[in-house]
Amino acid sequence: MIEIQEVTKRYDRHTYALKGITASLRERVTTVIGRNGAGKTTLIRILSTQLFPTKGTATIEGLDILKETKKVREIISSIPQESQLIGILSPLEQMQLYLMARGFTASQAKEESKHALDELELYDYRNAPSDTLSGGMKRKVFVAMALAAKAPVIFLDEPTTGLDPLSRIEVWSAIKRLSSKIILTTHYMEEAQELSNEVVVIDQGNIITHGAIGNLLSSFGGKMRAEKMDGEEYDIKIANVAIKYIEKERVDEFIAKGYDIKRINLDDIFLSKGVMLES
Ligand SMILES: Nc1ncnc2c1ncn2[C@@H]1O[C@H](COP(=O)(O)OP(=O)(O)OP(=O)(O)O)[C@@H](O)[C@H]1O
Ligand SMILES: [Mg+2]
Repeated sequence: MIEIQEVTKRYDRHTYALKGITASLRERVTTVIGRNGAGKTTLIRILSTQLFPTKGTATIEGLDILKETKKVREIISSIPQESQLIGILSPLEQMQLYLMARGFTASQAKEESKHALDELELYDYRNAPSDTLSGGMKRKVFVAMALAAKAPVIFLDEPTTGLDPLSRIEVWSAIKRLSSKIILTTHYMEEAQELSNEVVVIDQGNIITHGAIGNLLSSFGGKMRAEKMDGEEYDIKIANVAIKYIEKERVDEFIAKGYDIKRINLDDIFLSKGVMLES
């Protein structure tokens, strides 16, 4: 379990990336979503002890990130949003080094690395210089690394950004097979729905919603989303698209008015909280 207590991060006089957030993350997989600049990476970096909060703290499995940093580091692994492989080393070599630094024996490290690379369809590239891999493949190597460590708590900041649809599914199934607690960020609502039992929506440094996806969706009480370019009736307008939340009984009426009808999904939680409205 992760307890976040009033975590604030101020980068400079004007930038409050996090404005005193408090939350208990209890589920196995928690997804943090929010617009660009919302504060997701800042939160992940603080929880994974790479960045000091300006105020507040958090505990991970009962260990305080500020007072017991070393112990916290022993039970977590993470991939940062922007990470670079060492170009001349192969994926296998880098993963082995990483796992050995974490206390694995050389042979264990090799076995676990090969297994994780295989899981993410990177086995054939295990000995290639990392420089020669594509951007998506490099990303997958980092995911493989964070997962292979089998830490009890794993932080993944946008693990599937830039990955093709197949690779994304490979990452999802690797995540599902683990029993570690996982905190991930994503811009793909589908990913949040596929993987997590719990979502935290951050906007401008505050948590605006937190809960089980099913509960958040059911707060729409079975409504549907009707949308139409330049539509006259709307609850929300984004660019020129009018979005109206309607009861099922009104679906035919709105189809007749030229609206497309969609089922409610996580995007709507975002939209209905006004997250998109300011752009
Ligand atoms: N090192 C830094 N110095 C100053 N401001 C920063 C720094 N890092 C981030 N910020 C600011 O803090 C805010 C939150 O940034 P953060 O990287 O946490 O957002 P994010 O939710 O991860 O966004 P994205 O979806 O684009 O990755 C932004 O306003 C950003 O400009
Ligand atoms: Mg980020």
